[in-house]
Amino acid sequence: MSFVSVDDLLKGAEAGGYAVGAFNCNNMEIVQAIVRAAEAEKAPVIMQASQGAIKYAGINFIVAMAREAASSVKVPVALHLDHGTGFDQIMWCIRSGFSSVMIDGSKKPLEENIALTSQVIRCAYPLGISVEAELGKIGGTEDDITVSEREAMFTDPKEVRYFVEKTGVGSLAVAIGTAHGRYRGEPKLDFERLKQIRALVDIPIVLHGSSGVPDDQIAEAIRLGVRKVNIDTNIREAFVDAVRRAVAQDPDEIDPRKILGPARDAATEIIREKIRLFGSSGKA
Ligand code: G3H
Ligand code: 13P
Ligand code: ZN
Repeated sequence: MSFVSVDDLLKGAEAGGYAVGAFNCNNMEIVQAIVRAAEAEKAPVIMQASQGAIKYAGINFIVAMAREAASSVKVPVALHLDHGTGFDQIMWCIRSGFSSVMIDGSKKPLEENIALTSQVIRCAYPLGISVEAELGKIGGTEDDITVSEREAMFTDPKEVRYFVEKTGVGSLAVAIGTAHGRYRGEPKLDFERLKQIRALVDIPIVLHGSSGVPDDQIAEAIRLGVRKVNIDTNIREAFVDAVRRAVAQDPDEIDPRKILGPARDAATEIIREKIRLFGSSGKA
């Protein structure tokens, strides 16, 4: 099956009140883990590649691996660019076969974010490619900032309707207390802000930095309108922990398949758990 668009998957999620998992892929084993998990759970799935992943694997390798993976399963699979920051790079991804892109103009002033997002949409929508934008700055756990500095970066509900009306964007990533990477303490999502955002716009909301967010908070975010949940760090942890275990078990092992095979299984298992948590199991 060729890639479906993220917007199509999110329409189903909106109707069914669940979220679709968007899982970052960096290598063949993780690409395989994503579709194996989705197939086992009979779930629609989003495979996403960051600029770092594209730089590491090469764009043609990412697309070819994802295409082969998608065609090996019956469930619908979207291929999405995660945190695209430039127009040219986004065009390159669309041309290479991605079915969806994120244009992350969140570091820019509001009007520049709107202009860049609109420019991407004008080219992407006629081609049937979905577009996700970001409003507010999600950032990373490694950013050395105080709680109040982080809160200052949260999505301002007052800007949300204006942004969505001006751009016509299909889905929106919001900053409500999550961050990319491993959390130092327990994150506390700002559900009041999420409620306000959803009351203003009825497009699917995207949660980034979702690894390490307690399950009950993820479930509440989905209840309040999050329809795409991004997971990277938890896959990295499961994968690398399994590699470490395999190497420790037999330090003389030199067959990469004996080391990366268990890592692929561990990644599959954590992705299956997330799919069940997001409520998308059985929705394909
Ligand atoms: O949003 C960030 C993702 O975890 C991708 O991370 O840029 O290291 O590939 P990366
Ligand atoms: P985590 O690595 O924190 O799960 O975040 C993933 C993400 O948001 C990718 O865009
Ligand atoms: Zn992200």
